[in-house]
Formats: sequence, structure tokens, C-alpha cells
Amino acid sequence: MIRTATLSDAPAIARVHVSSWLSTYRGLLPDGFLASLSETNYTERWKRVITEGTSKVVVAEDGAEVIGFASGGRERAGESGYEGELYAIYVLDAAQRRGFGRELVRASVDGLRELGLTDMIIWVLRDNRPGRDFYERLGGVYVRSQPITIGSATLEEVSYGWRRLDDVRY
Ligand SMILES: CC(C)(COP(=O)(O)OP(=O)(O)OC[C@H]1O[C@@H](n2cnc3c(N)ncnc32)[C@H](O)[C@@H]1OP(=O)(O)O)[C@@H](O)C(=O)NCCC(=O)NCCS
Repeated sequence: MIRTATLSDAPAIARVHVSSWLSTYRGLLPDGFLASLSETNYTERWKRVITEGTSKVVVAEDGAEVIGFASGGRERAGESGYEGELYAIYVLDAAQRRGFGRELVRASVDGLRELGLTDMIIWVLRDNRPGRDFYERLGGVYVRSQPITIGSATLEEVSYGWRRLDDVRY
């Protein structure tokens, strides 16, 4: 089940956020950076995001447990040709490949439409191959790549775009 996040979801979102970063980015991001990720800090951060209400945050539940989330809103970096952005999407390792990601994207796209947006871009680490496979499966078209600094590491990230939200292939 997918629903809009409320303030009380912030701790669960933070838990999924940290757990998923550890399982996704071990070996890609510096160990010290991963060790510094704090659920307490992310809980505060997600509370702020949900309270501000400028981005759309949705959660996926398996039974009563939040096992994934996504957030999206207005494109943040001035990328030409795109006004909407999927900022983040994470599903717990144990819950992956069961369709939650696809449904989180569907709900996020609905959220972008509510904000009056008609297209979507996403950024993903170049070496996050499973993440890229997911976006390619949804019909995302490669846009470009650029360096990104995370902790002490400089990596490469790539973007995928959908010129029309109707182009997302579920
Ligand atoms: C990427 C992610 C959000 C996808 O969510 P998910 O619930 O696992 O994906 P779904 O089950 O909805 O998959 C939809 C389709 O995408 C493709 N796909 C998803 N994960 C894939 C993978 N690891 N490898 C190859 N294809 C994949 C498949 O075609 C899949 O359909 P199928 O299972 O019927 O073959 C999730 O795996 C995740 O959180 N990964 C770790 C974090 C991450 O990389 N997030 C993106 C950072 S930008």
C-alpha cells in the first residue's frame, strides 16, 4: 500500500533511508561517510521536509511496516528542459523486486501532477547499476552525467528524464 507521508512517519522514513543507503552504497561511498549516517538526524530532516510541504513524500507499507519511501517536487538545480524531479526513492533491501518501487514512482508522478508539473528528471550514481536498470525499465531516457561530491568522495552521477509524465512506463 502506498500513501502520503505524515509527520509521524519521519522516524520510519529515516530508518529506511539509513538502512537502504548502507545496503546500496557500501563499496560505492566511503565507509566513514556511511558510518556517520544517523537516523536521528534524518528523522529531523524528514520532519522538516514533510512540514514544509513543498515536496511530495510518499511511503510504501507492507502490513503495518514502512518499507519504502519516495519524494519529489520541483526540479532543484536549474536543469534545462525539466521542471519536475524525483529526489529520492528507497525500498528496504528485503522488500525489493516486489513492485513497491514502481508503485512509489506512480504515486510520486501523481504528486508532481498535483504540483502542476508535466515532466520528471532523476539523478542516480553512475555505478548504481540496479538503480539505473529500474529507471531504464520505467522508460527513463539518459540525459547527461556530472561529478558529485559525497563525503570525501567525488563520484559520477547520471540523469534520466521523462519529457512527459505520461511517458513513464509502469
Ligand atoms: C531501485 C528501487 C527503488 C526499485 O524498487 P523495487 O521495489 O525494488 O522495484 P520494482 O519491484 O518496482 O521493480 C520494477 C522493475 O524495475 C526493474 N528493476 C528493479 N530493480 C532492479 C534490479 N535490481 N536490477 C534490474 N532491474 C531492476 C525490473 O524490471 C522490475 O520489474 P520486474 O521485477 O518485474 O522485472 C529499489 O530497488 C531500491 O530502493 N534500491 C536501492 C536504493 C536505490 O538505488 N535507489 C535509487 C537511488 S537514485
